[in-house]
Amino acid sequence: MAKSSYGALPGLLVMLCLSGASNAANFPSSHDKVPAGWKGPVFRLSQAYPSKPPEESLPWAAIDPTEQPEQYAQAMYAYVLEGNVEAGWKVQNNKVRKWYHVPWMHYGDSGREFIHGMTRERTTPAPATPGKGELGPQQTRCFQNWAVGFYNSAGGYQVGKIWKKATKPDAALAQFPEGTVVAKLLFTTAPDTEVPYLKNTFEWDGNIHVFSGKTCPSGALARRPQKVRLLQLDMAVKDSRAPVTGWVFATLAYNGDAAGVTPWERMKLVGVMWGNDLSPAQQWINTAIGTPQHLGADGRLNGPVDNPRSSCISCHATAQTPMNSPMIPPSAADAPRWFKNYPGNQAFDAGSLPTDYSLQVSMGIQNLLRSQAAKAGPGKVAPEEMKLLQRAFDSGLDQPLPVTMKGTTEYPAGR
Ligand code: HEC
Repeated sequence: MAKSSYGALPGLLVMLCLSGASNAANFPSSHDKVPAGWKGPVFRLSQAYPSKPPEESLPWAAIDPTEQPEQYAQAMYAYVLEGNVEAGWKVQNNKVRKWYHVPWMHYGDSGREFIHGMTRERTTPAPATPGKGELGPQQTRCFQNWAVGFYNSAGGYQVGKIWKKATKPDAALAQFPEGTVVAKLLFTTAPDTEVPYLKNTFEWDGNIHVFSGKTCPSGALARRPQKVRLLQLDMAVKDSRAPVTGWVFATLAYNGDAAGVTPWERMKLVGVMWGNDLSPAQQWINTAIGTPQHLGADGRLNGPVDNPRSSCISCHATAQTPMNSPMIPPSAADAPRWFKNYPGNQAFDAGSLPTDYSLQVSMGIQNLLRSQAAKAGPGKVAPEEMKLLQRAFDSGLDQPLPVTMKGTTEYPAGR
């Protein structure tokens, strides 16, 4: 070997040490392959997980989420935008602070597409009654929604620990440190002809399902690059000031009629929640948002794309492996159990391991197990176990609206 290549080595080692990333992993980035001749952006999983928890003072440290939820969420939103907008949401290129993706979300029919790493989310149903669509009175069809989420360094550090053994993730380590922040951008295929408040929103290409909107299929559909539009931005932060749950969830929705120079400034808070209790309410809802919102069960916080039978905290409290229970209460009689508050280290079902409100971590682990079961061949995994592994994907995301439960709370635009 030429002498000069030895000379380059010490420099390389110094660089690796400085980045603090000893866990650099090699998980696949997307479900689909990049087609030959593709000239657009390509998603790369941010997986140089930090080897040490960061020392970071968070901008909302002095704001109590239960006292000043709106200010709290605005500070968190600014933190989520910082550096990421400039980096085009290639979160490993963020010049202010790095963010990280969860492995194994690429697997399966709804797995990460290759352009921006988005996964298929709940389908927005076509309106059952004309004029009563979840996205507003002009909606006529159903729409697919796709999203991508990322963790800050505190969260990335923990994700790296869970996934240190690439084929044997350890859910017992799935308890996130204080100050973990997760954000998620949600995009819809709905156009502004049916959802006028989406005008001038932020657009991406996504290699998403071929889907007419007259029927609303999911499963193994063909994919093709198409436009998607930013509708919702979700955030969650681990904060011990949130009683029992230890998490604060907040969401914003786009309003094309709002003031603001960029689409990011036209994202408006729908609300903030830290528990499921209704009296006193462990949430703040922005009733002056100016766009039609459907909220969740009994008026609990939930975003435009989310299932109105649920709430952020209720759905996320079912994060566990194996996923023994559906994310949404199967019937009105089951609702009390789903709308109780649980600490993140308590599994929703006895015999499962909790993943501290992270559905990406529980789904990633289930995905790996599904792929291992598929490799092992038919009959190698008990049918009951296979059913459990499939559960997350069948439950919740595409369930019909309730007949027996008080589901949606609508309030008119501009109130
Ligand atoms: C009906 C269930 C459901 C509801 C309701 C729901 N989510 Fe989620 N959420 C999911 C699933 C499933 C995932 C993981 C899959 C993904 O990210 O694509 C997820 C992922 C996330 C993530 C990424 C990190 C993680 O925990 O996996 C954040 C942040 C998030 N949701 C915030 C919210 C907020 C804020 C709300 C309420 C406005 C909300 N969610 C409501 C099901 C739900």
